[in-house]
Amino acid sequence: MKRQIVTFTLLLLCALPLAAQKKKEIYKDKNAPIETRIDNLLSLMTLEEKIMQMNQWTYGKNANPNNIGEKMKEVSPMIGSLLYRSTNPEYRNQIQKKAISESRLGIPIIFGFDAIHGYRTVFPIPLAQACSWNTDLVQQSCAITAKESWLSGLDWTFSPMLDVARDARWGRVSEGYGEDTYANSVFAVTAVKGYQGTNLSDKYTIAACLKHYIGYSLSEGGRDYHYSDISNQTLWETFMPPFEAGIKAGAATVMSGFNDISGVPASANYYTLTEVLKKKWGHDGFVISDWGSVRNLVEQSVAKDLKEATQKAFMAGVEMDMVDNTYMDYLPALVAEGKVPMATVDEAVRRILRVKMKLGLFENPYVDVVPEKKRYLLPEYLKTAELLAAESMVLLKNDNSVLPITTKYKSIAIIGPMVKDSVHIMGFWEGMGRPQDVETIYAGLQKEFKGKAQLNYAKGCDFDGDDRNGFTDAVSAANKSDAVIVFLGEKRNWSGENGSRSTIALPKIQEDLVAELKKTGKPVILMLSSGRPLELIRLNTMASAIVAIWQPGTAAGSAVAGILSGRSNPSGKLSITFPQTTGQIPIYYNMRESARPNSGHYQDIPRDALYWFGHGLSYTNYSYGSVKLSATKIKKTDKLIAEVEITNTGDRDGKETVMWFIKDPFASISRPMKELKHFEKKFIKAGEKAVYRFEIDPAQHLSFVDSNGERHLETGDFYVIVNDQQLHFELIE
Ligand code: NOJ
Repeated sequence: MKRQIVTFTLLLLCALPLAAQKKKEIYKDKNAPIETRIDNLLSLMTLEEKIMQMNQWTYGKNANPNNIGEKMKEVSPMIGSLLYRSTNPEYRNQIQKKAISESRLGIPIIFGFDAIHGYRTVFPIPLAQACSWNTDLVQQSCAITAKESWLSGLDWTFSPMLDVARDARWGRVSEGYGEDTYANSVFAVTAVKGYQGTNLSDKYTIAACLKHYIGYSLSEGGRDYHYSDISNQTLWETFMPPFEAGIKAGAATVMSGFNDISGVPASANYYTLTEVLKKKWGHDGFVISDWGSVRNLVEQSVAKDLKEATQKAFMAGVEMDMVDNTYMDYLPALVAEGKVPMATVDEAVRRILRVKMKLGLFENPYVDVVPEKKRYLLPEYLKTAELLAAESMVLLKNDNSVLPITTKYKSIAIIGPMVKDSVHIMGFWEGMGRPQDVETIYAGLQKEFKGKAQLNYAKGCDFDGDDRNGFTDAVSAANKSDAVIVFLGEKRNWSGENGSRSTIALPKIQEDLVAELKKTGKPVILMLSSGRPLELIRLNTMASAIVAIWQPGTAAGSAVAGILSGRSNPSGKLSITFPQTTGQIPIYYNMRESARPNSGHYQDIPRDALYWFGHGLSYTNYSYGSVKLSATKIKKTDKLIAEVEITNTGDRDGKETVMWFIKDPFASISRPMKELKHFEKKFIKAGEKAVYRFEIDPAQHLSFVDSNGERHLETGDFYVIVNDQQLHFELIE
């Protein structure tokens, strides 16, 4: 017996190192709980290995010093992340293989890139997508983007951008979903679902990144990267909800902004990054800085040097440094000096590892390599791109139903710098989109009107400059045509990052071209491609019809041609207001009422915007029945049903979006004049009807936040607003 015990003990002693050895590798066991795997992995990592996880390198076209270039052999296998600006999945797999097989612990790299409105198939810019109000199509576009991206070697996109638009001079309004907080929240969820699918570890799904956290769109005067003066009330009411919605939808990552929020830059803001994002909302993924936003803390004068910038950003809650190497360079010393606790390092690395585990990178570190023709621009992708582009376009004006171009026009002049363009029409952040993939407007029109109308093309002028030599040809093209369609707009880099403009009017030469064409007496139709709303005060009076086509992307030609011919009935409605002039900015539909509503407006322009948020015409007519409410008095715990029946009274099928607004005329904190709370888009055949419904949940739709983010639901009067109808109801205890 005694001998047996001794033998057993000896066996146990020999076996222990083995068991311990096994336990050591628990992070490789896909069946173990994620947190257990991370605990195990963290216990094995050196400080250097941890810091490497928090640094992002770059690859591809940029001059950043930490660009790994083609020198993969020289790159450490321990790198944590790569901003991968390449369409080559094989190279990604090679780099990944190096990390897996040559680093001590074999931790996979996460590869990210800006696939903002498409990867190789380019969809309309997000501002335009929002005008479609079609969440299904937007979600599909994100899922296609995810698939093309994944097959090119990506695990992660730096999208969606949720900066609620406030100043159209700021070029980045093109990248978000417009001026409404609720719309941005809905599209946040839509984009996260589209990119991440139902399970992040599935093939073809990629992690989303909500950006730019937070308030970046309030950069003063619309100048990019500038100071943003944001009250806590505005922060909570306008800017937080889309991020909160995106986090609740499961967004894996967040990007901290460049802006200085009232003295505490977004990338060093403990309140927004840790107290709100991590503690209040429970985000368990990680935050990446924006490009250089850690270093920028020095320029923003809150850090005396890069070391202090590192400490501030890291301690505020930025877990990964995009491309600057500041974490690599300064975290070791900061830890050694006790300025950064090891527990904070571990927590940050845990968050990064968690996202990698959720992506399934430990089990499936490589992407499939398929031929390019199976990867990109598949027919169904192009179809989605066309549908989304067409539904994004907004018919702003259509005097005497000059549009669509029916058989009444035998010859049409097609004029302007945008007609044959294949670069600017994709917009900023075109991903890996290529001009040669774009169906130009010219090509689209040739196809659409072949055998139906003669097209007389003239460029007329360039986007800017002073060369009016092309005007003569343009005028003669107009003279021999029944109608004149002018395709004007902005170059791609007039919006997007660093794309601020002091005026949102088109350059004078473009306006002058229209004035010349107007003199021919032919109806002038304007097709405007831009990354922002434009100042149309002069052009508006010269044009019989105007369509905002935005920057529609790869399928521009078919989408534009379909709208012009009537093959597609316009159904877009503005996600952002078109002011009369640049000087009317800021102007957005949900402003607060003035103390003297009838005075104080600019004397030299009309009081209203030229085209408000929500505006958009169709080739058919919709007649709204009377809105019906299920009650006129409800308790806080009740629900109120609002319904409206809409009839398509025209002779074309169409899609109509109904927007439901709530107005709270009196509250302890002043409320905007009205706020969008729900929208729905439905297809209605000509002559048929559809019922739209909004279930009002007081806690959700009638409450408001205060400057601490606390919700309040106050009894009293409310109105539900649809179109031009406003119905009163009362909320009681
Ligand atoms: C800077 C931009 O602000 C951000 O939106 C983008 O994701 C990064 N650069 C990476 O390209």
